[in-house]
Amino acid sequence: MADLPAAAIKAFEKKLDDRVNLSFERDIQPMFRDNPDIQHMKARGLDLSDYNQVSQYRAIGGALDIFRRVESGNMPKDGPRWTMHMVYTFGLWIKLGLKP
Ligand code: HEM
Repeated sequence: MADLPAAAIKAFEKKLDDRVNLSFERDIQPMFRDNPDIQHMKARGLDLSDYNQVSQYRAIGGALDIFRRVESGNMPKDGPRWTMHMVYTFGLWIKLGLKP
């Protein structure tokens, strides 16, 4: 039932590819608010705008720890809680290989 033009299917596939090719710069970093997330956490030694810090598997402050905290609502401390979409995007970014 190929009733869609090939170009339309191609365009849709490109859109899906963009959805799953998550990158830190385009999809993850913008989820952290400059203030207070980045500013407050930088003062505590974790730079959420720095790919090299966020992409580590460190027990404290690494990607898995950040995921755990935003999923549980422990961070950001002042709220509001991340939406499920944001949490899943972050988790999928980890699963897809922590791309810059
Ligand atoms: C993953 C490791 C993290 C650690 C160990 C951590 C730890 C802390 C600690 C100790 C504080 C001091 C406030 C308190 O606990 O009473 C704090 C504040 C804060 N954190 Fe985090 N945090 C982490 C991740 C994050 C993330 C991922 C975000 C944002 C998405 C975030 C956003 C904030 C904000 C906005 C504050 C300031 C709240 C305020 O003073 O109004 N933190 N964090």
